Amino acid sequence: MAPLSAFTLLFLTGLAAARVCTNVTIPIDISARQGLFQNVPSEGNLDTGAFVQAFNQRGRNYSQTLLEGFQTVTGSYRISAKFCHPDGGAGSTVQLLSHGIGFDKTYWDLPYNNYNYSYVETAIAQGYSTLAIDRFGIGNSSHGDPINTVQAQAEVEALNAVTTKLRNGEIPGVSSRFNKVIHVGHSFGSVQSVWLSALYPNNTDGLVLTGYSPDGSFLPITLAAWNLHSARLNQPLRLGDQRPAGIFNRFAQYASGPALINGISSVLHVFGITLTSQDTWNEVATTEVGDLIASWNQTVTPYNYSSGYLVTSDLTATQYVFLLAGFYDIGLGVFSEQTKQPVTIGEILTIGNAPATSSFTGPVLVFTGREDVPFCGGDCLAVTGNSAPSIPGETKMQFPNNTGGFEAYIQPNTGHGIAAHYNATAGYMVILNWLGSHGLSA
Ligand SMILES: *[C@@H]1O[C@H](CO)[C@@H](O)[C@H](O)[C@H]1NC(C)=O
Ligand SMILES: *[C@@H]1O[C@H](CO)[C@@H](O)[C@H](O)[C@H]1NC(C)=O
Ligand SMILES: *[C@@H]1O[C@H](CO)[C@@H](O)[C@H](O)[C@H]1NC(C)=O
Ligand SMILES: *[C@@H]1O[C@H](CO)[C@@H](O)[C@H](O)[C@H]1NC(C)=O
Ligand SMILES: *[C@@H]1O[C@H](CO)[C@@H](O)[C@H](O)[C@H]1NC(C)=O
Ligand SMILES: *[C@@H]1O[C@H](CO)[C@@H](O)[C@H](O)[C@H]1NC(C)=O
Ligand SMILES: *[C@@H]1O[C@H](CO)[C@@H](O)[C@H](O)[C@H]1NC(C)=O
Ligand SMILES: *[C@@H]1O[C@H](CO)[C@@H](O)[C@H](O)[C@H]1NC(C)=O
Ligand SMILES: *[C@@H]1O[C@H](CO)[C@@H](O)[C@H](O)[C@H]1NC(C)=O
Repeated sequence: MAPLSAFTLLFLTGLAAARVCTNVTIPIDISARQGLFQNVPSEGNLDTGAFVQAFNQRGRNYSQTLLEGFQTVTGSYRISAKFCHPDGGAGSTVQLLSHGIGFDKTYWDLPYNNYNYSYVETAIAQGYSTLAIDRFGIGNSSHGDPINTVQAQAEVEALNAVTTKLRNGEIPGVSSRFNKVIHVGHSFGSVQSVWLSALYPNNTDGLVLTGYSPDGSFLPITLAAWNLHSARLNQPLRLGDQRPAGIFNRFAQYASGPALINGISSVLHVFGITLTSQDTWNEVATTEVGDLIASWNQTVTPYNYSSGYLVTSDLTATQYVFLLAGFYDIGLGVFSEQTKQPVTIGEILTIGNAPATSSFTGPVLVFTGREDVPFCGGDCLAVTGNSAPSIPGETKMQFPNNTGGFEAYIQPNTGHGIAAHYNATAGYMVILNWLGSHGLSA
């Protein structure tokens, strides 16, 4: 029955997704010369609040205050990543995707609404392969001491180690070697991609810096707005180590969103508090109450982050920094809150230490939402005096020897968390077309 089995094979192939993805774990050895800081109390939320208060104090360089010296952090660690390639094969060009603070590798491939916000889907459709990593210290990658190990410099070394493995065909389970690696970052992932290009200019073929500008002056307002709390306390079931036996059974009766809201309404009613279901939704979904119960309904393995790993307090804080009200699906905002990831104290102390300029000469595209708060103060076109046409446009000065092409594209109606806005896909096409016209097609 050769014809029938041939037909079956064709039929199955036709049904398969246009992409093939695998979860990979990449062993890396890194050595990073970086700051040795005094301990910072971080057990409780008032401790983390006090840290931000000291960090933001006007006229003070708190990193300098805490710095005791430098040390070389050396170790073997694990980077967790998702590798995807088009059905037809992996090709020789790969995009290496580095997420920003508050997210993990899933930022690039959001499952929400049948993946129609996914950067990976859009890139695969254009023929690219992608490797989205959990940055060193975050998500399913190795964790480490949140003050003196998980700092920006160590993460840049990890990103460089992964890049070299991609070129050498040394990613476990990935048979291809890639002769072109495009570094695509979001936010802190963009900072690290610039940093890599400054330290190892011949290890990158192009930079796409999303949610980025070189202007660090909005960092204090960002940190204050996040209202950073201890990750393990904020979502104990997911970011902490709490998994009380039988939690699924206990919550089974509330197995859907509306039932949960109604259940909470009933409990409040017992105490004489009468709220409409809309008010109850606000009380749960937009505040830390929602974080407290996040994951009760899922079989996740708790991340067990230690003190010193901090998170935005709740969806209200997340919206301020990442999401432009009116231009994103609130359901996706709730999803982002429930799946958020932390930032370490060491990352905050070192985020501003990237080299000011890079000798990299290849193509550089900056792609930032017009209403971005952390890198533009809410308006990327509000330029003040210098010659750049936008705040992200100032990035050109970081690459004085650029010959491969530079552009700073300002995406309208979009906040910092670009992937979570309605018009994300149209923006992705701007990025992919730009790469194609700068010698970096798939
Ligand atoms: C990768 O890991 C995720 C999360 O554990 C899982 O949902 C998914 O099915 C895995 N994908 C593959 C291709 O194994
Ligand atoms: C703050 O101090 C650190 C450590 O000495 C230094 O690397 C950094 O450049 C300083 N930041 C500013 C804005 O001066
Ligand atoms: C996390 O890493 C483990 C291996 O260390 C792997 O089995 C699992 O699929 C990974 N999960 C995700 C979500 O990446
Ligand atoms: C980049 O340069 C370093 C030395 O500066 C060299 O060891 C390395 O092999 C080069 N990498 C590539 C991809 O050319
Ligand atoms: C969480 O991490 C702490 C410190 O590393 C460890 O003592 C504890 O056993 C871990 N808890 C779980 C559930 O793995
Ligand atoms: C809980 O899980 C059920 C079944 O997977 C799902 O239908 C429901 O939407 C989930 N509820 C919440 C609040 O996540
Ligand atoms: C740019 O090139 C000039 C001339 O080769 C060199 O002196 C300078 O250091 C380079 N700039 C950077 C930031 O690497
Ligand atoms: C995804 O689909 C929804 C519903 O059709 C739409 O509102 C949204 O704009 C789409 N998002 C993207 C990024 O395409
Ligand atoms: C969506 O994004 C594209 C690409 O940047 C842009 O041309 C278009 O104006 C945007 N649409 C809206 C409604 O913001």
